[in-house]
Amino acid sequence: LDLTDPIAFPAMESARATFAKTQWHAEPLIAPHPPRGSSPYQGEARRGYSDPAQLTNPANPTDSLGTVINATPTDVTAAISAATASTWPATPVATRANLLRATADLYEANRPELFALLAREAGKTWADAVSEVREAVDFLRYYAQQAEAHPLASPRGPISAISPWNFPLAIFTGQIAAALVSGNPVLAKPAPQTPLIAFRAVQLMHQAGIPADAIQLLPGAGEVGTALTSNPAIAGVVFTGSLPTARKIDQAMATHLAPTAPLIAETGGLNAMIVDSTALPEQAVRDILASAFQSAGQRCSALRVLYLQEDAAERTIEMLKGAMDELTMGNPWTLSTDIGPVIDEAARSKIQAHIDTYEKNGNLIHRLKSREIPEEPHGELVEPRGSGTGTFVAPTVLRIKSIADLTEEIFGPVLHIATFKSGELDAVISAINASGYGLTFGLHTRISSRVRQVSSSVKAGNIYINRNQIGAVVGSQPFGGEGLSGTGPKAGGPHYLPRFTLSHGPVQTA
Ligand code: NAD
Ligand code: ALA
Repeated sequence: LDLTDPIAFPAMESARATFAKTQWHAEPLIAPHPPRGSSPYQGEARRGYSDPAQLTNPANPTDSLGTVINATPTDVTAAISAATASTWPATPVATRANLLRATADLYEANRPELFALLAREAGKTWADAVSEVREAVDFLRYYAQQAEAHPLASPRGPISAISPWNFPLAIFTGQIAAALVSGNPVLAKPAPQTPLIAFRAVQLMHQAGIPADAIQLLPGAGEVGTALTSNPAIAGVVFTGSLPTARKIDQAMATHLAPTAPLIAETGGLNAMIVDSTALPEQAVRDILASAFQSAGQRCSALRVLYLQEDAAERTIEMLKGAMDELTMGNPWTLSTDIGPVIDEAARSKIQAHIDTYEKNGNLIHRLKSREIPEEPHGELVEPRGSGTGTFVAPTVLRIKSIADLTEEIFGPVLHIATFKSGELDAVISAINASGYGLTFGLHTRISSRVRQVSSSVKAGNIYINRNQIGAVVGSQPFGGEGLSGTGPKAGGPHYLPRFTLSHGPVQTA
């Protein structure tokens, strides 16, 4: 975390001072946007709102940060009708692009609140919160620029945008921005764990001038997602989340939607890194640490399986253990925290059960020793913190024989290590490819012919050489996988927007 960053640091301090005890509220935002105050929703009875649910901080369950009213099936139908009638597709491309830029400006102006929401609702460290707001802003500005730089064909119609909790602002915003700037009204469903930041984001989009019927918000869980993917008026779905959910959406769309409605899906991975005996160990260890444990391993891009060449394995593992023990796990509200909580109890118990099985069988290599919460340097800013114990999982390293031992993505701070002998590299690559996933891959080597050989035979969307394998940058490193990891086209790249249009339709004018 760069505490000298002249833009981010004051915003972090402001977030900590202002938003430590703020309460937020989220609810469906359905056009026509209802007037606040008096009988708030004309259509309340018609829409049949559900009771508010409480949201708490994953680092501390006694920190209650707000409430959410989830959308009902009637809400979804009303929102789809409003989207179908929207005049947004007729808005000139240049106007749409400028509205995305105006939203980006508002995100920047409101970054202390967005940082605070990312830390309190999603358990993000400050470093992660800063990069996430930057990524969201990058998506808005990049897609605005792309829409103006390349002619776009006709919009498709109402698009359902379904997003995960692990990038509750960046992915949420990226999906919406791409669909909107291509001329499609959007129905956005955030993950049930993170509706508050989504609500603030959509409020900022409306404040920027994007019409209420162009972007509507439908908070809720899987049932709302099902309603948004089984209504024949939906012209396409953009989804980021797990593979099992992508399969369900695919089935719902095949049954209910026109066969021409595309599914743009980004899912998970069993991401591998190969470190051979020529790699620079200090550099490899730094990049392993970031790839496996930053964001508590809750990145689709995160390193899950490390293959170490046998003759360098022992020293690399010893250095890795030492580096792990320097990590600080605790409340993300504290600036020095490296590892925050995992998102909720369901995630914690699933990850812990996996670790327990390996530990019972004698395959635990290392675990960060204690859960340490350092003293807060600014006493008055320590809130929110209480006596509650959050959903923490200590970064852990487990021994496996091969990537084939793993059947699913373990979405947390767990690294699996296997070793290989000289001469076994091709077999390792075949095993990695046989997993069927293909999101990220990392290679550490100082043999340049090996870089060419490995990167041309590994099936993965994003391949990183002698660096970490997380944090793809919008516009320069388009991000997306192949095989079980995603349909493409890659987000943050030049081929993304055309998928949101009818490629055979007439070209839209600026
Ligand atoms: P998830 O699949 O549980 O949920 C994702 C979204 O789908 C949520 O909004 C959820 O409510 C919704 N949903 C659930 N059931 C649905 C249904 N039947 N129909 C429609 N929508 C439904 O995933 P998650 O736990 O929120 O996120 C973590 C997963 O996301 C991991 O697998 C991770 O690898 C993946 N991910 C992938 C990328 C990428 O770009 N490839 C990026 C981030 C996260
Ligand atoms: N785009 C995110 C990354 O590269 C998921 O880590």
